[in-house]
Amino acid sequence: MSNKKIIIAIDGFSSTGKSTIAKQLAKELNYIYVDTGAMYRAVTLYAMQNKIIANNTFDQQNLIDALPNIQLQFKFNPELGFAEMFLNGTNVEKEIRTIEVSKLVSKVSEVSKVRKKLVQEQQAMGQEKGIVMDGRDIGTVVFPDAELKLFMTASADKRATRRYKELLDRGDNVNYEEILHNVQERDHIDSTRKDSPLVKANDAIEFDNSDMGLKEQFERIMSLVNDRL
Ligand code: DC
Repeated sequence: MSNKKIIIAIDGFSSTGKSTIAKQLAKELNYIYVDTGAMYRAVTLYAMQNKIIANNTFDQQNLIDALPNIQLQFKFNPELGFAEMFLNGTNVEKEIRTIEVSKLVSKVSEVSKVRKKLVQEQQAMGQEKGIVMDGRDIGTVVFPDAELKLFMTASADKRATRRYKELLDRGDNVNYEEILHNVQERDHIDSTRKDSPLVKANDAIEFDNSDMGLKEQFERIMSLVNDRL
């Protein structure tokens, strides 16, 4: 394998297995993995903690004014093998994955000034290449020149089932119907918002992994990576 380093951009709807493949690739290639959804989730958590957003209220201007006070950091946890999200110095990896955050995160992600701040931080992380980044707008907005762009899809039912199992495994008290509803609602908001909606980049390669095994998917994607190295 050559020493050339590339940028791998992975986009797609929620729970399409983006982070699973991104972590596998980062490990295999010794690249940095960045979960941009964690950044939008951490900003949402901040807004919840500071009563800027709740189920029926959202003071967008208040959040925009607070943006300079929101410091996000990824710190690599060698035991887990991936980086955890820190919000103003506190590890929030568990809090940002709750259904409460999932219910509000799409609203926060619609705010252009939030996107602008996070996109700048993401672009800075990719300056040296050697990065795998997943999200919704990585191949279209953050790294339009990425050497490899993947677009992941799977049926809403398959995705909700995966998410349901993940949350159950963590010991959360969850309801399948609520998760399916959340997945469908986020699909809708994420793909119809005005700023950087989730769309497949023209040069992205689509993977429907509803019925594809993880091993097969990894091998197929690694061969695309090797073509570019
Ligand atoms: O990947 P995820 O499900 O953890 O992302 C949570 C939300 O964050 C998602 O519903 C939309 C938003 N998001 C975004 O708007 N842009 C990104 N690059 C990543 C996530």
